[in-house]
Amino acid sequence: MKEIKPYHKSEDGKKEQIRTMFDNVSGNYDRLNRLITFGMDLKWRKNVLKILQKADPSNILDIATGTGDMAILYSKTNAKQIVGVDISTGMLDVARTKVTQRKLNDLIELKVGDAENLEFEDNSFEAVTISYGIRNFENLRKGMSEILRVLKPKGTLVVLETSVPENFILRQGFLFYNRLILPLWGKLFSKDKKAYSYLSDSSLHFPYGKELKKIFEEIGFVEVKVMPQMGGISSIYSASKN
Ligand SMILES: C[S@@+](CC[C@H](N)C(=O)[O-])C[C@H]1O[C@@H](n2cnc3c(N)ncnc32)[C@H](O)[C@@H]1O
Repeated sequence: MKEIKPYHKSEDGKKEQIRTMFDNVSGNYDRLNRLITFGMDLKWRKNVLKILQKADPSNILDIATGTGDMAILYSKTNAKQIVGVDISTGMLDVARTKVTQRKLNDLIELKVGDAENLEFEDNSFEAVTISYGIRNFENLRKGMSEILRVLKPKGTLVVLETSVPENFILRQGFLFYNRLILPLWGKLFSKDKKAYSYLSDSSLHFPYGKELKKIFEEIGFVEVKVMPQMGGISSIYSASKN
């Protein structure tokens, strides 16, 4: 897999660059996110919530929680404990403000944490989720192996990530949007111009669909299902552990 990093000229490793980039964009991440997806991500996020509501876990770990939207959404499940981890303190600061505003501090705990080196015991969580996080991991297989380790047997994994539509016309529209419009949004509205070129590049080069399913299975996840959203602009993956 080709390694795509945000700042080509920097000598920092991918993880350090990712942390810097998300610290830089944290202030307007939510606004730009809605703009980039025309608000469609809200629907996909709700579809993740529905899978969790059906699985009905008592605790949930949201990896790469960012500004905390998914952790907050999971307050609509019956979970008694929701933990969100992220490597970017800038993103977590935004998440903390939102959690406090909604008076969810007793339910949602936010922590600095790296998916590739989790502080939790084996078999700790009944559900683990990651939305738009895995393509930013420095080492995808290491991160997913850690996630498998902390997931309880019979637990539920749900991943939401960008993908590329299979339909020819949709695909051309998607590629046009990603290569030309997305970096333009970044130039116009973000302090960090490189960030939105990275987001576009990384989504075009990251494995998706059957290829990502195969990686999850090789790592040890079972019952892996792929659910393309809006013709495959994003995909939801669900899986379990033996
Ligand atoms: C595109 S944002 C997604 C945030 C949020 N999950 C959402 O759905 O909007 C990606 C997040 O992944 C985090 N991240 C990247 N690599 C990580 C890692 N190894 N461990 C934990 N978080 C990571 C970044 O700091 C960033 O907040």
